[in-house]
Amino acid sequence: MERWVGRVALVTGASSGIGKAIAQSLVCHGMKVVGCARNVEAVEELSEKLKAEKGSLIPIVCDVSKEEQVLSMFEKIKSEFGGTDVCINNAGLSQAAPLLSGKTEQWKNMLDVNVLGLCMCTREAVKSMRERGVDDGHVIQINSGVGHKQYASNPDGHFYSATKFAVTALVDGLRNELSLSKTHIRVTSISPGLTETNFAHRMYVHDPQVAVKKYSAFESLKPVDIADGVIYALSAPKHVQVHEVKINPTEQP
Ligand SMILES: NC(=O)c1ccc[n+]([C@@H]2O[C@H](COP(=O)([O-])OP(=O)(O)OC[C@H]3O[C@@H](n4cnc5c(N)ncnc54)[C@H](OP(=O)(O)O)[C@@H]3O)[C@@H](O)[C@H]2O)c1
Repeated sequence: MERWVGRVALVTGASSGIGKAIAQSLVCHGMKVVGCARNVEAVEELSEKLKAEKGSLIPIVCDVSKEEQVLSMFEKIKSEFGGTDVCINNAGLSQAAPLLSGKTEQWKNMLDVNVLGLCMCTREAVKSMRERGVDDGHVIQINSGVGHKQYASNPDGHFYSATKFAVTALVDGLRNELSLSKTHIRVTSISPGLTETNFAHRMYVHDPQVAVKKYSAFESLKPVDIADGVIYALSAPKHVQVHEVKINPTEQP
């Protein structure tokens, strides 16, 4: 991680769970991390906690589904830190919204954050890298195991799964466009299995027992397990592009 010390990483959704663990790990490795979320107070709290570490965490409030907020976040990063060298698109959510009974508004919300938010941040981050001649930049998309395989036993997650299948396609598309543009910017998809965070609690906000049951069926991953996957991809030598990292709890079928 030596070559990333002092360089700028954006982590979206740094207020909770996986994004919080990634932001913390990158700060400990000496990066200047811009952590965005709607609940910016939680990122500010983490930033305080990490004050004595090698790097720093700069909180920014941003709803990644709102283009004007995304553009103004990138403007702020440009004017204050020069630009982004690493972009980690982690912000995401699932709502319990089966294909036969879900509300259109729930589907739109998942598409706006998991797909369009990720695309807007990716476009702006790569633009920032290219206008500064940063040829070793890295885009990491926090995908999901269900971005590769649908689980018929969970209709609540079918639409969410489709948004993550879109991420899988977008990762390959982005790698193709970067290669056509003759850059060496790398793209990695990280696909976690069940990880204990606020994710299921938010998905089942009206029925908290469902989330409790999910996380107690077997030993889930911890957010730091996914942060370790990010460090693995970022630490690879420049000629090595880690395409996909799938991480599952040992007991998850
Ligand atoms: N937990 C799992 O089992 C699991 C498995 C596979 C993949 N994932 C993926 O991992 C990523 C992180 O999820 P998590 O498990 O850490 O869940 P989490 O604890 O609920 O955290 C989700 C993060 O996303 C942010 N977020 C949501 N909507 C946002 C928006 N419109 N704008 C900006 N930030 C937004 C939240 O911040 P605010 O609410 O403060 O804005 C929060 O920081 C997601 O992409 C998820 O799909 C999770």
